[in-house]
Amino acid sequence: MQHVEMESMTEQAYRCWLQYETILNKQEEAHYWSYVQTISLQKETLIGQAIKRELNLAVESMFGKTSTWQEDAQLVLTTVADKARLRKHGINQEEIAELNEEGYIIKEKDNQLIVVGASEKGLLYGVFHLLRLISQKQSLTDLTIQDAPQNQIRMLNQWDNIDGSIERGYSGQSIFYSNGTVTTDEKRLTDYARLLASVGINAISINNVNVWKEETHLISERYLTDVQRLEEIFQSYGVTVYLSINFASPIELGHLDTADPLDAGVQQWWKEKVAEIYSYMPRFGGFVVKADSEHRPGPFTYERDHADGANLLADALSPYNGMVIWRCFVYNCMQDWRDRKTDRARAAYDHFVPLDGRFRDNVVLQIKNGPMDFQVREPVSPLFGALQQTNQLLEFQITQEYLGQQKDLCYLVPMWKEVLQFDTKVQGEGSTVQSIVNGSLYQAKISGIAAVANSGDEQSWTGHTLAQANLFGYGRLTWNADLTAEEILHEWIVLTFGHEEKLKRVLSEMLLASWSIYENYTTPLGIGWMVNPNHHYGVNVDGYEYSRWGTYHFADREGLGVDRTRESGTAFVDQYAKENADRFNALDQCPDDLLLFFHHVPYTHRLKNGKTVIQHYYDSHFEGVTDVEWLISEWQSLKSLIDPYRYKNVAERLQLQLSNAREWRDQVNTYFLRKSGIPDADGRKMYE
Ligand code: GCU
Repeated sequence: MQHVEMESMTEQAYRCWLQYETILNKQEEAHYWSYVQTISLQKETLIGQAIKRELNLAVESMFGKTSTWQEDAQLVLTTVADKARLRKHGINQEEIAELNEEGYIIKEKDNQLIVVGASEKGLLYGVFHLLRLISQKQSLTDLTIQDAPQNQIRMLNQWDNIDGSIERGYSGQSIFYSNGTVTTDEKRLTDYARLLASVGINAISINNVNVWKEETHLISERYLTDVQRLEEIFQSYGVTVYLSINFASPIELGHLDTADPLDAGVQQWWKEKVAEIYSYMPRFGGFVVKADSEHRPGPFTYERDHADGANLLADALSPYNGMVIWRCFVYNCMQDWRDRKTDRARAAYDHFVPLDGRFRDNVVLQIKNGPMDFQVREPVSPLFGALQQTNQLLEFQITQEYLGQQKDLCYLVPMWKEVLQFDTKVQGEGSTVQSIVNGSLYQAKISGIAAVANSGDEQSWTGHTLAQANLFGYGRLTWNADLTAEEILHEWIVLTFGHEEKLKRVLSEMLLASWSIYENYTTPLGIGWMVNPNHHYGVNVDGYEYSRWGTYHFADREGLGVDRTRESGTAFVDQYAKENADRFNALDQCPDDLLLFFHHVPYTHRLKNGKTVIQHYYDSHFEGVTDVEWLISEWQSLKSLIDPYRYKNVAERLQLQLSNAREWRDQVNTYFLRKSGIPDADGRKMYE
């Protein structure tokens, strides 16, 4: 197929939520055009140019004509710095003073619209907000909006490798690298930066946390000129660039014989290295570090701890206001847990809580949402709440490693909301995770949220077109954690697919049900870890890759689940504040959806819904498959409302999901029937 033809077919998938659909209704067209026909913008900085490009593109696409840029205009774009203009438009300083530096005001009066950013970045976000309002067909008359992000850092972690592959990537190859070089496809990167900025993402690390041999060189002369090119693109959309580094760089790049953080030569090496990086990129964000985990080097080699390791880098970065993002995903993957006391879930807390207060103030610890590893359901990591004198970032995973790999449908915002709303209780009621990551609970200097990206070079960016909702939702939720999963979804549907009522209803039902459907046919009740080893797609009941010591579900003839109680188990529960610890520890109080995470129970244990655990397992696996069949028929009912490319893209994936769900159902149910010897109460056939 001709390139151009293919492009026009896939264009809607490519544009994601920035469709800027032509406004056909005459009245609506007249209303919006009256505001955008003339626009004024003071500064022509990098961000200013991005704002101008975006508005030109959007106006052209929505109205088929171009705005005139002039001093006196219907749409006035400015920042707080321009006091005279604010006075002229009756905006008082107090309104702005309430906003943080990324905030903005949008105000309409007498058919004139003004967008005021607390900074240029704020203005960029304000413009995207305005474009969202127009795309959603909201009236601009008498509008007053005052908005600012709740979380300071709203970051994406790309797990892209320089050979063009992406660790846990399910949407093609990297848009950053190919075959050992940094990409020259600046159009694609610019479009990515636009997508990110449009939902408020303001930071990105551009290489895999596992920094292999070649990636180690990204901070060397060989690559810095190219990295700087990428950095400029993202900077012009207000996105600060970070690099993941190899802790052993002084050895691998500097040819020193040690990377010991307390060694003066190593400290000097990092100082010089950081100075070199900033000579290329004065606004560089800093380093992301995975150390002493899954065979990556770290301070443990030198019998130093993680505060020593992080502070080494922090000292080198601090003259430039750079930051160290140090990951807490530290555990010994070779550990022997047969004593039933050793527990991977305990690792992050055990390593980091004793170090609380010892990190420099430009270090921020990045903590995965759960204590294990992005399973379909996990409790919140107990580090939240336990760390009180340390900057923290929460880490989510947008890429669906354990959640169907963008073949299976799984809208993740409801899960993320549960995490943010979890009350750690450490400072009494209301000590939610959100209050920790927005910096308010402990007055943290740096805080926020990061997530592993789900994008790649496929035309739809995310492989499964509906997985775009997760990238969009991540940005919107980290901007404003008070938005509901439904609100975010409704915005996304309209911006992505348009205004058709049926489409809105059906799509939102499908997506809102999708997480629990996936959970039902995979690992309900919090057990996790029944996937195929290494690649992590599809069922393998005993498949945990570090399983030479047994499996993680501890299923035997009598029952299943991991005993993490204080009396007979690993005592992991006691890493939580007392109220939560007691609740998780007590069999009758532990929520059912986490039951098997905390307790080993007999198959005949009754859940709160009155069913036995084994019957619940059978039922949910049967239901999961029926629900996927329902997803398919719902999607089919939308055929006439969706362009052929996106329709087919999703239809094909739903078929893959159905085979996956059937396989899970058959293998899980048969496995537990054999183990337990307890038949299904409804006498259904266990495999086809
Ligand atoms: C998971 C994932 C790895 C990744 C690791 C991490 O274990 O499977 O691919 O490197 O998380 O977060 O560092």
